[in-house]
Amino acid sequence: MRTTTKAALLIAGIAALGALTVQHSSAQSKTYLIGFSQLAFDDPWRVAFNNQMTKAASKHPEFKLVTVNAQRDSAKQVADVENLVQQKMDLLIISPNEAAPLTAIVKKVYDSGIPVIVLDRAVLGDAYTMFIGADNKFIGTKAGAYVAKWCSDKKLNPCNVLEVSGLSGSTPAQERGSGFRDGIKTNPNVKLAASVTSEWQKAKALPAAAAAFQANNKFNVVYGHNDDSTEGAYIAAQNANLDVKKMLFLGIDGLPDKNGAIVSILQGRLGATFVYPNGASEAIDWAAKILEKNEKPPKKITLGTDEITTENAKQACEKYDCELK
Ligand code: FRU
Repeated sequence: MRTTTKAALLIAGIAALGALTVQHSSAQSKTYLIGFSQLAFDDPWRVAFNNQMTKAASKHPEFKLVTVNAQRDSAKQVADVENLVQQKMDLLIISPNEAAPLTAIVKKVYDSGIPVIVLDRAVLGDAYTMFIGADNKFIGTKAGAYVAKWCSDKKLNPCNVLEVSGLSGSTPAQERGSGFRDGIKTNPNVKLAASVTSEWQKAKALPAAAAAFQANNKFNVVYGHNDDSTEGAYIAAQNANLDVKKMLFLGIDGLPDKNGAIVSILQGRLGATFVYPNGASEAIDWAAKILEKNEKPPKKITLGTDEITTENAKQACEKYDCELK
């Protein structure tokens, strides 16, 4: 072989090797920073949500998940997201504390070209990549329909309801409230006698319900926008010496852990709950499709629910693998 040919081959060889090496190392080292802006870490539903997010992300070694805690403060959540932008995140997953205060920052991130997946609570408008969450209006309506039937089965007229609502600026509180009002319409004897707010928190539900029970001790039903609020109100009802066995306590979330609503139903406190999924695994699946396969996601994915009552709590316990201590 002539020296020039040899040299050419050598160069081609080195180039090919180089190309291979580059390709190899890029496949190995391409990582994505996923920013997860969570609104709080201090209740069991959020803890389960965070755990499921971490677990789903761990199936993608190429994902680095950075979870930040807004501590129920919308202004802090805006700052958290700005911080994630500084860290050059590739995709944002956010569960917004309140709709209006988080809308502009979500739009800013989305407009800058960073995909944004909004989970559980909505923002205003449609400046985000996709929304994943359950239908809160539907769940609220189901809760109302359950109350309408319970009141008519018990032949209660009036059938007085205390509502313990979530944070008013958050979309699930608005939708669970309006859905419930629709759901009770079939029974005119159902009276929404009082509405107080717990801002989603058990610790705030207790004094709020206590004040309501002090003003009026004729409540038949307590509808909490989440199970935590209902459990707080249950304690307040006991403290007020109400006959809790004759009342209906219902909530939303349906967690399967030992302090969750399914076990509470089996233990005779709550009468009904509605499962509220968080969308963590769906969000991670879509993050992978968006970032790695360039897929265009649907604007909205609606997650299902399940009505759990005293009738089916045992089966639900098996289905959701609940923790009986
Ligand atoms: C948890 C929570 C849930 C509720 C959801 C609504 O922080 O309050 O109990 O279902 O948020 O966004």
